[in-house]
Amino acid sequence: MSTACVLVAAGSGTRLAAGSPKAFVVLDGRPLLVHAVERVLRAGVCDQLVLVVPDGRQQESTALVSGLPGAGGVVLRAVAGGVDRRSSVAAGLAALGDDVDVVLVHDAARCLTPPEQVLEVERAVRAGAPAVVPGVAVTDTVRAVAARAGGAAGPVDRASLRLVQTPQGFRRDVLEQAHGAAAEHGLPQALAATDDASLVELLGTPVTVVPGREEAFKVTRPLDLALASAVLAQEGAL
Ligand code: C5P
Repeated sequence: MSTACVLVAAGSGTRLAAGSPKAFVVLDGRPLLVHAVERVLRAGVCDQLVLVVPDGRQQESTALVSGLPGAGGVVLRAVAGGVDRRSSVAAGLAALGDDVDVVLVHDAARCLTPPEQVLEVERAVRAGAPAVVPGVAVTDTVRAVAARAGGAAGPVDRASLRLVQTPQGFRRDVLEQAHGAAAEHGLPQALAATDDASLVELLGTPVTVVPGREEAFKVTRPLDLALASAVLAQEGAL
């Protein structure tokens, strides 16, 4: 039995417009990828770590993180990502060792995710939940502007909503089955499967939501980098 983390870091970062793939954008002197890996390692639950990076940057990526505290006992691999997040996760899954039975899928873009969140998600899967996601409450007022199949335009009750973060934790067989089915049959048109739990749910597997954390926000737009920098400064002052 062992736990692996598939860290997807192969996105282009178009919305960040920082001139390099998002995971390699530098925040306080270190690429986002390094910040993300450092926190995953601090959780101390991963025996394997698969970095999914833009093709050609595999060697550079392992070199960037192999000296981090806690990396010594972890099997580290880097593979090339795909055209979208889903194919990048699939590439990471294909690189897992045989003994892995729990997989955490984490976005490098959520580079300041506290180690405790990684730990709690892993624990919840080990405790028996087949699929676990961290979620945070919505504070804005929410309105649907286009009717979807079965839905209507208009206000949405935010109390029933959660913003879903990563890492998302899965029993390996459940996650592999979900990715296999999505690759074979495609996805329903109404489903924007921007995460792995959505794929798993399509096969009827229940998804457990555990409390997420604000610090696990995704760096997507330039303002997010300013926020990340402020969070790091606050950490440093503690
Ligand atoms: O695009 P978005 O911000 O939703 O991406 C979430 C995560 O998925 C990021 O860490 C990004 O690097 C990763 N990703 C990837 N391969 C892609 C697209 C996104 O690994 N083709």
